[in-house]
Amino acid sequence: MKNCFAENVFLLWVTAIAFSPLACGDGCSKEQTRALLEIRNSANGLAFAGWDGRDCCEAEDIECGGTNGGVSEIILDGFGMAPSSSTWYPNVTLFTLFDELEVLYLVNMQIGGGLQPFCQLKHLVVLDLGYNRLEGIIPSCLGMIENIEEIHISNNRLHGNLPPSIFSKQSKITDFDVANNQLEGVLSSSTFDNASSLESLDLSDNLFHGNLPQSIFSQESKIMYLYAFSNQLEGVLSFSIFANASRLMHLDLSSNKDLEIETESPSWVPTFQLSYLNLANCSLNKKNGHVFPSFISTQFLLDYLDLSHNLIDGSVPWELLLLNTSIQVLSLRSNQIDGSLSFGCFAQTSSLKAFDISENNVTGSLPENIGHLLPHLFYVDMSSNALEGIIPSSFGNLSFEILDLSNNKLSELGKERKKWMKSKRVSYGVNDIADMCRWGELDRDLLTLIFLRVPEYDISRVRLVCKSWLAVMEDPFFKIMIVMDIVEKIRGEYEDM
Ligand SMILES: *[C@@H]1O[C@H](CO)[C@@H](O)[C@H](O)[C@H]1NC(C)=O
Ligand SMILES: *[C@@H]1O[C@H](CO)[C@@H](O)[C@H](O)[C@H]1NC(C)=O
Ligand SMILES: *[C@@H]1O[C@H](CO)[C@@H](O)[C@H](O)[C@H]1NC(C)=O
Ligand SMILES: *[C@@H]1O[C@H](CO)[C@@H](O)[C@H](O)[C@H]1NC(C)=O
Ligand SMILES: *[C@@H]1O[C@H](CO)[C@@H](O)[C@H](O)[C@H]1NC(C)=O
Ligand SMILES: *[C@@H]1O[C@H](CO)[C@@H](O)[C@H](O)[C@H]1NC(C)=O
Ligand SMILES: *[C@@H]1O[C@H](CO)[C@@H](O)[C@H](O)[C@H]1NC(C)=O
Repeated sequence: MKNCFAENVFLLWVTAIAFSPLACGDGCSKEQTRALLEIRNSANGLAFAGWDGRDCCEAEDIECGGTNGGVSEIILDGFGMAPSSSTWYPNVTLFTLFDELEVLYLVNMQIGGGLQPFCQLKHLVVLDLGYNRLEGIIPSCLGMIENIEEIHISNNRLHGNLPPSIFSKQSKITDFDVANNQLEGVLSSSTFDNASSLESLDLSDNLFHGNLPQSIFSQESKIMYLYAFSNQLEGVLSFSIFANASRLMHLDLSSNKDLEIETESPSWVPTFQLSYLNLANCSLNKKNGHVFPSFISTQFLLDYLDLSHNLIDGSVPWELLLLNTSIQVLSLRSNQIDGSLSFGCFAQTSSLKAFDISENNVTGSLPENIGHLLPHLFYVDMSSNALEGIIPSSFGNLSFEILDLSNNKLSELGKERKKWMKSKRVSYGVNDIADMCRWGELDRDLLTLIFLRVPEYDISRVRLVCKSWLAVMEDPFFKIMIVMDIVEKIRGEYEDM
């Protein structure tokens, strides 16, 4: 009798554990489990597909790290899923049932509708809704979520202005990414008055016009990454406005309609060390004789520089550029650079890997020591210049993957031609690389490789690893890095043979 009672108590206890909503580490209440099931059912097979509907903390896309063991992160992306033509209209109210939810990541999920409902999620720190089909305007209430630090809403169909009060007085927003939408209007200076926590701002691929507000770059500014390419910014921008933004590392202002950038006046002293600078198509130094920007040789961390499609005239301080920076990728394509490529005979070697000086007016012969001074070169486009003479033997010390010397006045291939002509793509134009970069032609292994090699910051910024490869390939910022990775992979295969 006594034993029997004990057994029943034990059974009851076991039953209680199995069915109590918070037992056994399940951080979800019944309501929450029901909400997740409802989300799963509405999502066209894109959400929680592998979840058995039991312990929600066991679901692959959920992190239970809240103070009470509740759901703190929901991370969903359409990576690897067959693209669906049907749009998902999630019932955002269901997510409000998770009162410890800090990270909501719904990327490439074919989400339609507007952003307004997401303002209900009062505990969010990170919101990433990139690569969806969201429409309408950006509601200012998003910026008023008390602890919000990251808002990523790039690659949607949003329109309208940046709300003037998106950065409220106590704004903690560090990352704000609205790239590739149809946003428009003048960027007003007061919008950024309170954006004092901002570290990364991506406005690229929109229809913004007017000037770039100086308030983003004040002395107290924490800005490190600024992308504003492919907009309609206009007017004359003096580079001196960046002088006091001491943490600035990446800057891309390329391809803006009617934007003119002056780097030489008024005089200024950089407090920053850039690693990435893209001023392609920026009417550089139109009022200062189209000179090569002099501050660049002070940028010793610079590894990527694109000044293509300007009218840069005259000569380039090659020695400073190649030695006083960490330059790896350099494009000066389509300018009016003349003079010869005289690199002097510096003692060190340069880190330069990819060099494009096509469509200029470079004269004279190639430096005899080029192969020794630039031993890491593997991508070279010098086509459409006025180079003449014999190709130096030190070319034989280089392992080119891409070499284009077409449309010059070179007369002889030189002694070591057998060596350097082994490169697979000798005299192919860069257009072939652009073709290679088209996402359709890349296989999964290659993409894995790319994901593994994307710089660490970019992984944390956009959680690239989870992002669809389609989306990555559309991001112009990664293109040249991707080219380099492809080339390295190809080279690796050669070496394995
Ligand atoms: C969304 O979910 C909430 C909470 O469960 C519910 O009250 C509401 O009716 C739902 N809305 C729609 C449109 O289904
Ligand atoms: C910025 O904060 C100040 C108070 O520090 C406030 O008066 C002002 O309205 C805010 N500006 C914007 C654009 O929100
Ligand atoms: C940068 O700071 C210096 C020193 O405080 C100041 O004189 C200058 O006006 C500032 N420049 C800009 C563009 O804010
Ligand atoms: C330069 O910018 C103009 C205006 O936006 C655009 O039409 C042109 O295609 C751009 N050129 C390049 C090479 O990016
Ligand atoms: C370039 O680097 C050399 C050696 O580090 C240094 O002496 C020189 O001052 C630098 N030049 C400029 C313009 O920064
Ligand atoms: C290239 O440079 C040569 C020699 O300085 C000059 O005669 C010629 O006009 C230049 N060509 C162009 C297209 O600028
Ligand atoms: C360049 O190649 C030649 C011939 O293979 C070799 O003798 C020489 O050591 C190489 N020089 C360098 C700097 O690698």
